[in-house]
Amino acid sequence: MYRLAVLLSGRGSNFEAIQNAIESGFIKNGKVVVVISNRADARGLVLAKRRGLNALFLDPEGKSREDYDREIVKLLKANGVDFVLLAGYMRILSPYFVKSFKDRILNIHPSLLPSFRGLHAQRQAVESGVKFSGATVHFVTDRLDDGPIIVQSVVPVFSNDDEDSLSERILKTEHKIYPLAVKLLTEDRIEIKDGRVIIDWKEPEEFFITNPELGG
Ligand code: GRF
Repeated sequence: MYRLAVLLSGRGSNFEAIQNAIESGFIKNGKVVVVISNRADARGLVLAKRRGLNALFLDPEGKSREDYDREIVKLLKANGVDFVLLAGYMRILSPYFVKSFKDRILNIHPSLLPSFRGLHAQRQAVESGVKFSGATVHFVTDRLDDGPIIVQSVVPVFSNDDEDSLSERILKTEHKIYPLAVKLLTEDRIEIKDGRVIIDWKEPEEFFITNPELGG
């Protein structure tokens, strides 16, 4: 059973989707052993506590990025964490953190990477006029919103969309692809080869879970 950590800063809906997938048995080989937030008032922290999980606020106030990350890494190691799941975690990780969990940190970003990195990815998509956007689960490297892509979802962008309406459409798919990526990861079905992810798909249905309209 792999031991998972979730790092979050806010709403925590992706954390909830992952935890639901664990509780329903969709993710069979992983469990969340610690949830950490850099914000005391994160809704995700409240949700995690309510579910009886080990949920901690770690105050970044007055600490350098690396000192803060050293504390987190220490906590992760003390909890025997195998994989770190960033779920709306609004801090850039130090190289120290990334190195400590090399190829073992996942993130979800609300765009089809490598398009629209950084903040307000959905607004960037609306303003650019693209006709499709989506979400990406990827491994974390030293570069922001970069790293080998694990799974993506695609949604249309309509001419009357604004940042909120597109965010809502994308978020629904985030809640499918993040649990899927965690399932694949914890079943040892993901391999990184030459900077690209190779997935051992067992059933075509698994792939189409992310994009049911494509043929699932
Ligand atoms: C999501 O849109 C995710 O893609 C981005 O931050 C948001 C987090 O939402 N990285 P939530 O806290 O999981 O509800």
